[in-house]
Amino acid sequence: MREPVITFYNVSKSYPLYRHIRGIKNFVFNMPKHLKTMQQEQYEALRDITFEVYEGENFGVIGNNGAGKSTTLGLIAGVLKPNRGRVIVRRRVSPLLALGAGFHQELSGRDNIMLNGVLMGLTRREIREKEEEIIEFSELGEFINHPIRMYSTGMVARLGFSVVAHLDPEILLIDEVLGVGDIRFQKKCLDKMKTFQDSGVTMVLVTHSVASVMNLCDRVMWIDNHEIKMIGDPTEVVTYYSEAVGVPLDLSAVNKAKL
Ligand SMILES: Nc1ncnc2c1ncn2[C@@H]1O[C@H](COP(=O)(O)OP(=O)(O)O)[C@@H](O)[C@H]1O
Ligand SMILES: [Mg+2]
Repeated sequence: MREPVITFYNVSKSYPLYRHIRGIKNFVFNMPKHLKTMQQEQYEALRDITFEVYEGENFGVIGNNGAGKSTTLGLIAGVLKPNRGRVIVRRRVSPLLALGAGFHQELSGRDNIMLNGVLMGLTRREIREKEEEIIEFSELGEFINHPIRMYSTGMVARLGFSVVAHLDPEILLIDEVLGVGDIRFQKKCLDKMKTFQDSGVTMVLVTHSVASVMNLCDRVMWIDNHEIKMIGDPTEVVTYYSEAVGVPLDLSAVNKAKL
């Protein structure tokens, strides 16, 4: 039996819900009441989630917008804390690879590589040794010396993938960034992710691409309306999910999309 490296026990996560308050006068005169409702009102993004991810597994997460996928990754990365339940992560996690997350807008791409490496616990020397490889993979050329705020969305995604893919994470978290780059770069990322499969890296991948779920993942979790709807074999879960959203899956088309 393989060892679980990520464990969620009955995890719930809520965000405070700030309602629009009508008029400052009304707010001031009814302050205690308003403050109380502000404290109480919470939006539940994840409700009582329990699952495990095993060492070396490629674990996909699918679901509609707002279902709670990014919240799940945030909890794994440790940037969010659960309101109830427990999250246990037993390996070194990559920075959260969501668009732009983990990057400082005013720093250059090169400085952001250093920043993320340090945050992952690598020494400066270790990071320097990988720097050229990261820059080369990202195909950013001279832009690597410019601040991130000058980058296009695709360029940010390219650097983001390149950074996390080269800093030797034991758990790699990827949130919907693959769809942003051009098709050639997507293919390059998928090839890189396949090499992780051989080296025993655990991967948690949030994606809307049915093809990458089917080609890369060992198991898939479908989150629906803040709860786990299904966990299991990619083909099975994706088939049910596609039916539920009213876009039945054409398996032959997916198989043809050689990724
Ligand atoms: N920082 C936040 N503050 C308040 N609500 C949030 C915050 N982040 C996410 N949410 C809400 O929590 C729910 C789940 O969000 P998220 O995990 O980002 O969904 P997904 O990644 O599946 O699209 C959504 O309804 C979203 O609006
Ligand atoms: Mg999301």
